[in-house]
Amino acid sequence: MKDYIKPLAWEGEELHLLDQRELPLVEKIFIAKSIEDGHFAIKEMVVRGAPLIGFTALWTMILWLSKNENPSMGDLEKSVEYLKTARPTAVNLEYELNRTFEMAKEFYDANNSLVGFVDKLTVFANEQMDKLHNDNQTMAKIAEGDLLKKVGDQKYNIMTICNTGYLACGPMGTALGVIAHLHENNKIKKAYPSETRPYLQGIRLTSYEMTKLGIPHDIVVEGSSSYLMKNNMVDAIYAGADRIAVNGDTANKIGTSTLSLVAKHYDVPFYIVAPLSSFDLDCESGSKIPIELRDQNEILFCKGQRLAPEGATAFNPSFDITDAENITGIICEKGLISPVTKENLLKVVNS
Ligand code: MRU
Repeated sequence: MKDYIKPLAWEGEELHLLDQRELPLVEKIFIAKSIEDGHFAIKEMVVRGAPLIGFTALWTMILWLSKNENPSMGDLEKSVEYLKTARPTAVNLEYELNRTFEMAKEFYDANNSLVGFVDKLTVFANEQMDKLHNDNQTMAKIAEGDLLKKVGDQKYNIMTICNTGYLACGPMGTALGVIAHLHENNKIKKAYPSETRPYLQGIRLTSYEMTKLGIPHDIVVEGSSSYLMKNNMVDAIYAGADRIAVNGDTANKIGTSTLSLVAKHYDVPFYIVAPLSSFDLDCESGSKIPIELRDQNEILFCKGQRLAPEGATAFNPSFDITDAENITGIICEKGLISPVTKENLLKVVNS
């Protein structure tokens, strides 16, 4: 890919993060030198997207360990719990931090100290990022095979929401990974990334990635989904996930649920593409998923310019729940879950 800047890189004991708040106009690196910087980067969306949030937490723990050579298990636990507070909805954050804690416990039990654990965690973090790259490729191939069966052998018009590419994952991407893979195989007629109000991940980040990849696309506003589908302009929709409950209900960027309802109405296949790190098998349904409420100023202002009248207020839930019954299929690295039921989900996830 042309001019590819990694969204996360470990450079000389510092964490270098491509500052996604500034994209697409400015490509600036945010340098995290402490656990507080890592927490800030996740909370303030220097980095965002469920898998990348998880990886940033993992690398922030590496950063912390590299500055605290011989911490106690109690101090490590405090750091893990502190990072978990950065954002609530994407389960990948807890998933990576819980794995870190379990590995640390095992290491401590075997060595009676955490000296040297940083090296083990660094190897693990690199392996997991490589694994996600392979898993994303697997998911893209599963999606391609299913689309061929459902829609036929043709070039496709695909709609998506938010940003689910390498900026959200580190390597490759989930829903946007599917679109990139189809494009590589000359199978994309046109992609429709929705602008994704209010934070504009679609117009700023997805279009940035699509432009670099040469994917033909038109940015659309969320409200155009019914127009596009009524006029047969969409063959399938792919979205990512921040947390998938065991019954298949899925939390993703606000507007995803609306998209699924319109898709159901017009009989357009609607898919969630997400790695196993986005599944929360302890969560029985979408009603139990914590939804992040973000600052009202993300709606009231645009690039520092007030849009709403003085005194007006806004309500800004950042995610919504797409009901399992409105999802044609969930694609993970283990396969396709369709129809989306608890039984089918557990069968695929545990295979
Ligand atoms: O608030 P964000 O930008 O972190 O929200 C991201 C999304 O909702 C993505 O669609 C989701 O994390 C999947 S990323 C592969």
